[in-house]
Amino acid sequence: MATILDGKKVASDIKNEIAAKVEAIKSKGLRAPNLAIIIVGDDSASHTYVDGKIKACKAVGFDFTLMHFASTISEEKLLKHVDQLNQDEDIDGFIVQLPLPEHISVEKVTDCISPVKDVDGFTNQNFGSINSKNQLILPATPFGIMELLRRYEVDLEGKHCVVVGASRLVGAPISMMMLEDGHATVTVCHKYTPDITQYTKEADILIAAVGKPGLISADMVKEGAVIVDVGTSRVEDKSRKSGFKLVGDVEFDEASKKASYITPVPGGVGPMTIASLLLNTIRAYEKQHSDEITG
Ligand code: GUN
Repeated sequence: MATILDGKKVASDIKNEIAAKVEAIKSKGLRAPNLAIIIVGDDSASHTYVDGKIKACKAVGFDFTLMHFASTISEEKLLKHVDQLNQDEDIDGFIVQLPLPEHISVEKVTDCISPVKDVDGFTNQNFGSINSKNQLILPATPFGIMELLRRYEVDLEGKHCVVVGASRLVGAPISMMMLEDGHATVTVCHKYTPDITQYTKEADILIAAVGKPGLISADMVKEGAVIVDVGTSRVEDKSRKSGFKLVGDVEFDEASKKASYITPVPGGVGPMTIASLLLNTIRAYEKQHSDEITG
């Protein structure tokens, strides 16, 4: 039976570390870090994620600024708000929650974010600098995955890491980190890969980041593999008050009998993404206030 990679617990440890830093900052008479969140429209899953981020800000003593716009907002207006946040000295970092309505270009919006305030790590500059040694801000979800594996002392070097999903948010950046930081041999499968099983079966480390419940069944997993499940889909569950439950891409019950380590959904990668967002925000704050903090 696999060891659970308990993202909730590790994220809680990280939040305690950040809270102590915030206390130290405040004790110098400085203001707390301030994270702004832009959310467009009324997608209930997105609002749930944003609520989680706000709760985490409160838990570590950050200030936060929530900006909620109707789904009819024009791209031009949204870009103006992004630019205002870029200029606002009281905001240390901000994110634009995705997805955005179809009439708004995600690329245009994310690339309008100043790289020093891009605490999601989505801008071309931060994405392109992932493997630079002095990189301050890393894409939040891959950063969280690497940190989770590091804290459980999972050995990556020379291992075969198979990433299923090549998205700009997770699949692409985690493959680069696994290669450069982890020194793993990396295979990336995507929607054009005809038979993913031939690769998943060979994976010492399997990272599933597609968002398709049941995509990875136990027979697709190698004995002793480390499984990181990034997929988070809502499926109907009438027995719950909310009417749904969250499930990953991996068939957890069976796969956990074969794996050596596995992340649960929920409670695995999700909380680590939020912890990384907080870490990126405090790094952005420290960078922008370095004179005051050290002075
Ligand atoms: N939508 C789903 N995951 C994320 C995330 O990590 N950041 C943002 N901004 N939007 C998301």
